[in-house]
Amino acid sequence: MQYETCSNYNSLRATFDAALQKQQNLVIQAGSLHDPIQSFAESVCEGLEKQPRQLECRFLYDAHGSKLYEKICSQPEYYLTKTEAQILQQYAGEISRETGSCHLIELGSGSSVKTDYLLSAYQTRYTNVCYTPIDISSTALKLAGRAIIDKRPDVQVVGIHGTYNDSFQLLSCASPAMIIFLGSTIGNFNEEEEHEFWQDISQHMKVGDYFLLGVDLVKDVSILEAAYNDAAGVTADFTRNYFARMNRELGSAIDLAHIKHVAFFNPVKNRIEIYIKFSRAQKIHIESLHRTFYVAKEEMLQIEISRKFHVSAVKDHLNSYGFKPVKTYTDAKNWFGLILFRKSR
Ligand code: AVI
Repeated sequence: MQYETCSNYNSLRATFDAALQKQQNLVIQAGSLHDPIQSFAESVCEGLEKQPRQLECRFLYDAHGSKLYEKICSQPEYYLTKTEAQILQQYAGEISRETGSCHLIELGSGSSVKTDYLLSAYQTRYTNVCYTPIDISSTALKLAGRAIIDKRPDVQVVGIHGTYNDSFQLLSCASPAMIIFLGSTIGNFNEEEEHEFWQDISQHMKVGDYFLLGVDLVKDVSILEAAYNDAAGVTADFTRNYFARMNRELGSAIDLAHIKHVAFFNPVKNRIEIYIKFSRAQKIHIESLHRTFYVAKEEMLQIEISRKFHVSAVKDHLNSYGFKPVKTYTDAKNWFGLILFRKSR
Protein backbone atom coordinates (compact mmCIF):
# COMPACT_ATOMS: atom_id res chain seq x y z
CA MET A 1 0.00 0.00 0.00
CA GLN A 2 1.26 3.45 -0.86
CA TYR A 3 1.28 5.84 2.14
CA GLU A 4 1.00 9.65 2.06
CA THR A 5 1.11 12.12 4.92
CA CYS A 6 -1.05 15.25 4.97
CA SER A 7 -0.26 18.09 7.31
CA ASN A 8 -3.64 19.80 7.23
CA TYR A 9 -7.27 19.23 6.44
CA ASN A 10 -7.20 20.82 2.98
CA SER A 11 -4.41 18.58 1.77
CA LEU A 12 -6.15 15.53 3.32
CA ARG A 13 -9.32 16.29 1.42
CA ALA A 14 -7.47 17.01 -1.84
CA THR A 15 -5.43 13.78 -1.55
CA PHE A 16 -8.55 11.76 -0.72
CA ASP A 17 -10.46 13.26 -3.66
CA ALA A 18 -7.57 12.70 -6.08
CA ALA A 19 -7.17 9.05 -5.00
CA LEU A 20 -10.89 8.46 -5.61
CA GLN A 21 -10.69 10.08 -9.07
CA LYS A 22 -7.57 8.15 -10.07
CA GLN A 23 -8.95 4.90 -8.58
CA GLN A 24 -5.69 4.61 -6.66
CA ASN A 25 -5.12 2.38 -3.60
CA LEU A 26 -3.68 4.51 -0.84
CA VAL A 27 -3.38 5.02 2.93
CA ILE A 28 -3.43 8.69 3.91
CA GLN A 29 -2.18 9.92 7.26
CA ALA A 30 -4.26 12.77 8.69
CA GLY A 31 -2.32 15.49 10.48
CA SER A 32 -4.00 14.92 13.87
CA LEU A 33 -1.70 12.06 14.89
CA HIS A 34 1.59 13.93 14.75
CA ASP A 35 2.78 13.58 18.33
CA PRO A 36 1.07 10.46 19.70
CA ILE A 37 3.33 10.16 22.76
CA GLN A 38 2.64 13.73 23.82
CA SER A 39 -1.14 13.22 23.39
CA PHE A 40 -0.87 10.02 25.44
CA ALA A 41 1.02 11.84 28.23
CA GLU A 42 -1.54 14.67 28.30
CA SER A 43 -4.47 12.26 28.33
CA VAL A 44 -2.97 10.17 31.16
CA CYS A 45 -2.36 13.27 33.30
CA GLU A 46 -5.90 14.51 32.68
CA GLY A 47 -7.28 11.09 33.64
CA LEU A 48 -5.17 10.84 36.77
CA GLU A 49 -6.32 14.28 37.91
CA LYS A 50 -9.98 13.20 37.83
CA GLN A 51 -11.70 11.84 40.91
CA PRO A 52 -12.39 8.95 40.58
CA ARG A 53 -9.44 8.52 38.25
CA GLN A 54 -10.31 7.48 34.71
CA LEU A 55 -8.09 6.87 31.68
CA GLU A 56 -9.07 7.12 28.01
CA CYS A 57 -9.59 3.67 26.51
CA ARG A 58 -8.42 4.63 23.01
CA PHE A 59 -4.83 4.29 24.24
CA LEU A 60 -5.36 0.56 24.82
CA TYR A 61 -4.62 0.07 21.12
CA ASP A 62 -0.88 0.39 20.58
CA ALA A 63 0.69 -2.31 18.35
CA HIS A 64 0.79 -4.86 21.19
CA GLY A 65 -2.67 -3.87 22.49
CA SER A 66 -4.16 -4.27 18.98
CA LYS A 67 -2.68 -7.79 18.78
CA LEU A 68 -4.10 -8.63 22.21
CA TYR A 69 -7.52 -7.33 21.15
CA GLU A 70 -7.45 -9.62 18.09
CA LYS A 71 -6.62 -12.48 20.50
CA ILE A 72 -9.53 -11.50 22.78
CA CYS A 73 -11.85 -11.80 19.78
CA SER A 74 -10.96 -15.47 19.40
CA GLN A 75 -11.43 -16.37 23.09
CA PRO A 76 -14.40 -18.72 23.63
CA GLU A 77 -16.05 -16.38 26.19
CA TYR A 78 -15.84 -13.30 23.94
CA TYR A 79 -18.93 -13.88 21.80
CA LEU A 80 -19.22 -10.34 20.33
CA THR A 81 -16.96 -10.65 17.27
CA LYS A 82 -18.04 -14.17 16.34
CA THR A 83 -21.74 -13.38 16.69
CA GLU A 84 -21.47 -10.18 14.68
CA ALA A 85 -19.50 -12.04 11.97
CA GLN A 86 -22.26 -14.66 11.73
CA ILE A 87 -24.89 -11.94 11.33
CA LEU A 88 -22.81 -10.22 8.64
CA GLN A 89 -22.23 -13.49 6.82
CA GLN A 90 -25.96 -14.18 6.80
CA TYR A 91 -27.23 -10.71 5.91
CA ALA A 92 -24.48 -8.94 3.91
CA GLY A 93 -26.35 -9.70 0.65
CA GLU A 94 -29.57 -8.23 2.01
CA ILE A 95 -27.78 -5.14 3.32
CA SER A 96 -26.14 -4.54 -0.09
CA ARG A 97 -29.55 -4.81 -1.77
CA GLU A 98 -31.10 -2.42 0.74
CA THR A 99 -28.49 0.37 0.34
CA GLY A 100 -27.72 0.14 -3.38
CA SER A 101 -24.22 0.83 -4.66
CA CYS A 102 -22.29 3.05 -2.23
CA HIS A 103 -18.85 3.93 -0.87
CA LEU A 104 -18.15 1.77 2.21
CA ILE A 105 -16.48 3.69 5.04
CA GLU A 106 -15.49 1.81 8.17
CA LEU A 107 -14.69 3.52 11.46
CA GLY A 108 -12.10 1.68 13.59
CA SER A 109 -11.61 -0.95 10.91
CA GLY A 110 -8.76 -2.89 12.63
CA SER A 111 -8.11 -6.08 10.68
CA SER A 112 -11.22 -5.56 8.45
CA VAL A 113 -11.85 -9.33 8.60
CA LYS A 114 -15.62 -9.12 9.25
CA THR A 115 -15.99 -6.43 6.59
CA ASP A 116 -14.98 -8.95 3.96
CA TYR A 117 -18.54 -10.34 4.03
CA LEU A 118 -19.79 -6.89 3.02
CA LEU A 119 -17.07 -6.38 0.39
CA SER A 120 -17.94 -9.74 -1.13
CA ALA A 121 -21.67 -8.93 -1.21
CA TYR A 122 -21.17 -5.44 -2.71
CA GLN A 123 -18.75 -6.85 -5.31
CA THR A 124 -21.23 -9.51 -6.33
CA ARG A 125 -23.91 -6.92 -6.91
CA TYR A 126 -22.07 -3.76 -8.03
CA THR A 127 -19.01 -2.63 -10.00
CA ASN A 128 -16.41 -0.08 -8.74
CA VAL A 129 -16.65 -0.91 -5.04
CA CYS A 130 -14.66 1.59 -2.97
CA TYR A 131 -13.71 0.93 0.66
CA THR A 132 -12.32 3.47 3.14
CA PRO A 133 -11.06 1.90 6.38
CA ILE A 134 -10.26 4.42 9.13
CA ASP A 135 -8.02 3.48 12.03
CA ILE A 136 -5.47 4.96 14.41
CA SER A 137 -3.14 2.01 13.79
CA SER A 138 -1.13 2.40 10.57
CA THR A 139 0.09 -1.20 10.83
CA ALA A 140 -3.47 -2.54 10.97
CA LEU A 141 -4.48 -0.34 8.01
CA LYS A 142 -1.55 -1.33 5.81
CA LEU A 143 -1.96 -5.05 6.58
CA ALA A 144 -5.73 -4.99 6.08
CA GLY A 145 -5.39 -2.90 2.89
CA ARG A 146 -2.82 -5.29 1.43
CA ALA A 147 -4.96 -8.35 2.29
CA ILE A 148 -8.05 -6.83 0.65
CA ILE A 149 -6.20 -5.81 -2.52
CA ASP A 150 -4.66 -9.30 -2.81
CA LYS A 151 -8.00 -11.02 -2.34
CA ARG A 152 -10.19 -8.51 -4.18
CA PRO A 153 -8.09 -6.64 -6.76
CA ASP A 154 -11.18 -4.89 -8.14
CA VAL A 155 -12.00 -3.19 -4.83
CA GLN A 156 -10.42 0.25 -4.45
CA VAL A 157 -9.01 0.89 -0.96
CA VAL A 158 -8.39 4.44 0.25
CA GLY A 159 -7.59 4.18 3.96
CA ILE A 160 -7.33 7.02 6.48
CA HIS A 161 -4.75 6.76 9.24
CA GLY A 162 -6.35 9.05 11.77
CA THR A 163 -9.19 9.61 14.22
CA TYR A 164 -12.91 9.36 13.47
CA ASN A 165 -13.06 13.16 13.57
CA ASP A 166 -10.53 13.41 10.72
CA SER A 167 -12.78 11.34 8.54
CA PHE A 168 -16.10 13.11 9.20
CA GLN A 169 -15.15 16.02 6.98
CA LEU A 170 -14.42 13.65 4.10
CA LEU A 171 -17.88 12.14 4.13
CA SER A 172 -19.32 14.68 1.72
CA CYS A 173 -16.76 13.61 -0.97
CA ALA A 174 -17.81 10.00 -0.60
CA SER A 175 -21.62 10.15 -0.80
CA PRO A 176 -23.62 7.95 -1.48
CA ALA A 177 -22.01 6.13 1.39
CA MET A 178 -22.58 3.59 4.11
CA ILE A 179 -20.66 4.27 7.31
CA ILE A 180 -19.87 1.02 9.08
CA PHE A 181 -19.25 1.01 12.83
CA LEU A 182 -18.94 -2.55 14.06
CA GLY A 183 -17.99 -4.49 17.18
CA SER A 184 -20.16 -2.41 19.55
CA THR A 185 -17.30 0.10 19.78
CA ILE A 186 -20.01 2.74 20.33
CA GLY A 187 -20.38 1.06 23.77
CA ASN A 188 -16.90 2.26 24.72
CA PHE A 189 -18.10 5.89 24.57
CA ASN A 190 -19.77 7.47 27.58
CA GLU A 191 -23.06 9.34 26.97
CA GLU A 192 -21.36 12.67 26.41
CA GLU A 193 -18.82 11.28 23.93
CA GLU A 194 -21.60 9.41 22.15
CA HIS A 195 -23.67 12.58 21.83
CA GLU A 196 -20.72 14.45 20.29
CA PHE A 197 -20.07 11.54 17.93
CA TRP A 198 -23.64 11.42 16.57
CA GLN A 199 -23.88 15.18 16.41
CA ASP A 200 -20.66 15.49 14.36
CA ILE A 201 -21.23 12.57 12.06
CA SER A 202 -24.86 13.44 11.36
CA GLN A 203 -23.83 16.96 10.37
CA HIS A 204 -21.43 15.63 7.76
CA MET A 205 -23.55 12.82 6.31
CA LYS A 206 -25.89 13.53 3.43
CA VAL A 207 -29.59 12.66 3.39
CA GLY A 208 -29.91 9.18 1.91
CA ASP A 209 -26.54 7.93 3.23
CA TYR A 210 -26.62 4.82 5.41
CA PHE A 211 -25.11 3.90 8.77
CA LEU A 212 -24.58 0.27 9.81
CA LEU A 213 -24.17 0.02 13.58
CA GLY A 214 -23.14 -3.07 15.58
CA VAL A 215 -24.38 -3.13 19.19
CA ASP A 216 -23.91 -5.66 21.97
CA LEU A 217 -27.27 -6.33 23.61
CA VAL A 218 -28.17 -6.57 27.31
CA LYS A 219 -28.19 -10.20 28.40
CA ASP A 220 -27.51 -12.51 31.34
CA VAL A 221 -24.83 -10.99 33.62
CA SER A 222 -22.80 -14.22 33.78
CA ILE A 223 -22.36 -14.24 29.99
CA LEU A 224 -21.38 -10.57 29.95
CA GLU A 225 -18.90 -10.86 32.81
CA ALA A 226 -17.28 -14.02 31.40
CA ALA A 227 -16.62 -12.17 28.12
CA TYR A 228 -14.44 -9.63 29.98
CA ASN A 229 -12.78 -12.16 32.32
CA ASP A 230 -11.68 -14.90 29.92
CA ALA A 231 -10.08 -17.96 31.50
CA ALA A 232 -6.86 -17.59 29.48
CA GLY A 233 -6.35 -14.10 30.95
CA VAL A 234 -6.04 -12.34 27.58
CA THR A 235 -8.37 -9.48 28.58
CA ALA A 236 -6.36 -9.04 31.79
CA ASP A 237 -3.16 -8.78 29.68
CA PHE A 238 -4.91 -6.27 27.40
CA THR A 239 -5.79 -4.11 30.43
CA ARG A 240 -2.31 -4.42 31.94
CA ASN A 241 -0.73 -3.48 28.60
CA TYR A 242 -2.09 0.06 29.12
CA PHE A 243 0.28 0.41 32.07
CA ALA A 244 3.11 -1.40 30.30
CA ARG A 245 2.64 1.16 27.50
CA MET A 246 2.82 4.00 30.05
CA ASN A 247 6.11 2.54 31.30
CA ARG A 248 7.48 2.15 27.76
CA GLU A 249 6.40 5.50 26.34
CA LEU A 250 6.08 7.79 29.36
CA GLY A 251 8.71 6.29 31.69
CA SER A 252 6.10 6.00 34.45
CA ALA A 253 7.86 3.08 36.22
CA ILE A 254 4.65 1.44 37.46
CA ASP A 255 5.21 -1.89 39.22
CA LEU A 256 3.18 -4.19 36.95
CA ALA A 257 3.41 -7.06 39.45
CA HIS A 258 1.07 -5.14 41.76
CA ILE A 259 -1.78 -4.24 39.44
CA LYS A 260 -4.83 -6.42 38.79
CA HIS A 261 -7.52 -6.44 36.09
CA VAL A 262 -11.09 -6.13 37.47
CA ALA A 263 -14.19 -6.26 35.24
CA PHE A 264 -17.85 -6.44 36.26
CA PHE A 265 -21.32 -5.52 35.03
CA ASN A 266 -22.94 -2.41 36.48
CA PRO A 267 -26.71 -3.11 36.17
CA VAL A 268 -27.71 0.49 36.92
CA LYS A 269 -25.72 1.82 33.98
CA ASN A 270 -26.05 -1.33 31.81
CA ARG A 271 -22.33 -1.48 31.26
CA ILE A 272 -19.24 -3.54 31.88
CA GLU A 273 -16.69 -1.48 33.81
CA ILE A 274 -13.01 -2.34 33.57
CA TYR A 275 -10.50 -1.20 36.16
CA ILE A 276 -6.94 -1.70 37.27
CA LYS A 277 -6.75 -2.26 41.02
CA PHE A 278 -3.47 -1.42 42.76
CA SER A 279 -2.49 -4.03 45.35
CA ARG A 280 0.00 -1.60 46.87
CA ALA A 281 0.41 2.18 46.91
CA GLN A 282 2.41 3.45 43.95
CA LYS A 283 3.88 6.61 42.48
CA ILE A 284 3.18 7.38 38.82
CA HIS A 285 5.58 9.82 37.27
CA ILE A 286 4.98 11.37 33.85
CA GLU A 287 8.44 12.59 32.94
CA SER A 288 7.69 14.79 29.91
CA LEU A 289 5.05 16.81 31.77
CA HIS A 290 6.90 16.83 35.13
CA ARG A 291 3.88 15.44 36.95
CA THR A 292 3.76 12.89 39.78
CA PHE A 293 0.60 11.15 41.04
CA TYR A 294 0.16 8.89 44.06
CA VAL A 295 -2.30 6.02 43.94
CA ALA A 296 -3.43 4.36 47.15
CA LYS A 297 -3.39 0.65 48.00
CA GLU A 298 -6.68 -0.94 46.75
CA GLU A 299 -7.42 2.11 44.55
CA MET A 300 -9.31 1.29 41.36
CA LEU A 301 -8.53 3.19 38.18
CA GLN A 302 -11.17 2.94 35.44
CA ILE A 303 -9.74 2.30 32.00
CA GLU A 304 -12.79 1.28 29.96
CA ILE A 305 -16.56 1.01 29.91
CA SER A 306 -18.46 -1.24 27.52
CA ARG A 307 -22.12 -0.27 27.40
CA LYS A 308 -24.77 -2.82 26.48
CA PHE A 309 -27.93 -1.84 24.60
CA HIS A 310 -31.61 -2.50 23.87
CA VAL A 311 -32.37 -2.25 20.13
CA SER A 312 -35.53 -0.16 20.65
CA ALA A 313 -33.67 2.40 22.78
CA VAL A 314 -30.88 2.73 20.18
CA LYS A 315 -33.45 3.35 17.43
CA ASP A 316 -35.28 5.99 19.48
CA HIS A 317 -32.03 7.67 20.44
CA LEU A 318 -30.72 7.91 16.86
CA ASN A 319 -34.00 9.30 15.63
CA SER A 320 -33.10 12.57 17.34
CA TYR A 321 -29.98 12.83 15.12
CA GLY A 322 -31.96 12.30 11.91
CA PHE A 323 -31.40 8.57 11.47
CA LYS A 324 -34.35 6.35 10.51
CA PRO A 325 -33.99 2.61 11.19
CA VAL A 326 -34.27 0.58 7.99
CA LYS A 327 -33.76 -2.93 9.33
CA THR A 328 -32.34 -4.79 12.35
CA TYR A 329 -30.43 -8.03 12.00
CA THR A 330 -29.74 -10.24 15.02
CA ASP A 331 -28.52 -13.76 15.83
CA ALA A 332 -30.75 -16.61 17.02
CA LYS A 333 -29.99 -15.90 20.72
CA ASN A 334 -30.55 -12.17 20.30
CA TRP A 335 -27.12 -11.45 21.78
CA PHE A 336 -25.92 -8.92 19.23
CA GLY A 337 -27.64 -6.48 16.88
CA LEU A 338 -26.70 -4.92 13.56
CA ILE A 339 -28.94 -1.97 12.83
CA LEU A 340 -29.07 -0.32 9.42
CA PHE A 341 -30.06 3.36 9.55
CA ARG A 342 -30.74 5.83 6.76
CA LYS A 343 -30.01 9.55 7.18
CA SER A 344 -33.39 11.14 6.67
CA ARG A 345 -32.90 14.84 7.44
C1 AVI B 1 -13.60 -2.66 21.07
N1 AVI B 1 -14.62 -2.88 22.09
C2 AVI B 1 -15.94 -2.99 21.49
C3 AVI B 1 -14.34 -4.00 23.02
C4 AVI B 1 -15.52 -4.20 23.99
O1 AVI B 1 -16.00 -5.33 24.07
O2 AVI B 1 -15.96 -3.24 24.60
C5 AVI B 1 -13.05 -3.72 23.78
C6 AVI B 1 -12.72 -4.78 24.79
N2 AVI B 1 -12.24 -4.53 25.99
C7 AVI B 1 -12.04 -5.65 26.62
N3 AVI B 1 -12.43 -6.65 25.85
C8 AVI B 1 -12.83 -6.12 24.68
